[in-house]
Amino acid sequence: MRPVTGKVLERESLHSSLDSPVMGSINFLNEVMGRFPDAISFAPGAPHTAFFDEIDIPRHLARYRRYLEEERGLTSAQVDRLLYQYGPSRGLINELVAQALRADQGIDVPEESVVVTVGCQEAILLVLRALFTSPRDLLAVVNPCFVGLSGAANLLGIDTVPVDDTEEGLDFAQLDEVCRQARESGSPIRAMYVAPDFSNPSGSRLGLEARHRLLATAEREDFLLLEDNAYAFTTTDEASLPPLKALPGGERVVHLGTFAKTCMPGARVGYVVADQPVRRASGGTGLLADELATVKSMVTVNTSPISQAVIGGILLEHRGSVAEAAR
Ligand SMILES: Cc1ncc(COP(=O)(O)O)c(C=O)c1O
Repeated sequence: MRPVTGKVLERESLHSSLDSPVMGSINFLNEVMGRFPDAISFAPGAPHTAFFDEIDIPRHLARYRRYLEEERGLTSAQVDRLLYQYGPSRGLINELVAQALRADQGIDVPEESVVVTVGCQEAILLVLRALFTSPRDLLAVVNPCFVGLSGAANLLGIDTVPVDDTEEGLDFAQLDEVCRQARESGSPIRAMYVAPDFSNPSGSRLGLEARHRLLATAEREDFLLLEDNAYAFTTTDEASLPPLKALPGGERVVHLGTFAKTCMPGARVGYVVADQPVRRASGGTGLLADELATVKSMVTVNTSPISQAVIGGILLEHRGSVAEAAR
């Protein structure tokens, strides 16, 4: 190793979130996976490498190009510009994502409510940044909780309060108690994070009745639900349950997802559906998605158009269905 010549910084002088063991865990799990490529690691929720054999980047890119030229009427030069230039923070393949959500998940939202992100992890960060304004606001989280969510909350200085995921399912008595305490202490629950389908790390699912009950609790206590859909597309048709976003009361659900598990993690393409209207003091109404796109423009500017085109090509090849692409 070369001698270290940079100016020495005290760890205590850096952001306090860096002290949390949660912060290094995703990188650690990915590094271990890279070091033992023949082992099947269940820790990071990574797809098996055998699925990568079907990936053909030039073909997927060409499919998306053809779509832009033949169905959207763009010239080849316009397509080049779209793929090689900076692009809109909101994303390029929003209509294809909206179409896949409609086809596979029964989530019927306009493409304007979709923001295409650098993985679901960025979607989590954008949503937390936009929603949490006061240090008193609390984020309820399913416990055990995905480390990417705990880490992002930690990074942003957001306090989390656990609600246990037990053998019998989500502990609603505990959730009610958490809400009561939050109300009485004047620290409201702003939102609750859940992953109803194959929660990471527990692998548990919320039953249909529990989904309705959670939506009813959110309504009664007036908090938003952050629904992490990372694994829902991997279920079979017979076993699939409607996502919270597609159920009555779904207006207060911000829906987060990714193509990492169904297409490939290396593309780093995820999305967030945020169709909540935002009323501006100056008059006029926009969508929460607009605000998230603004936050994104200051984080990653835009998701790589080339990565989006590859995912777009895969979706088009499977008639707009992620579920079909994952099979
Ligand atoms: C539940 C859950 N949400 C989000 C993510 C992050 O997904 P992405 O790779 O798209 O950032 C993961 C990845 O493991 C996950 O398990």
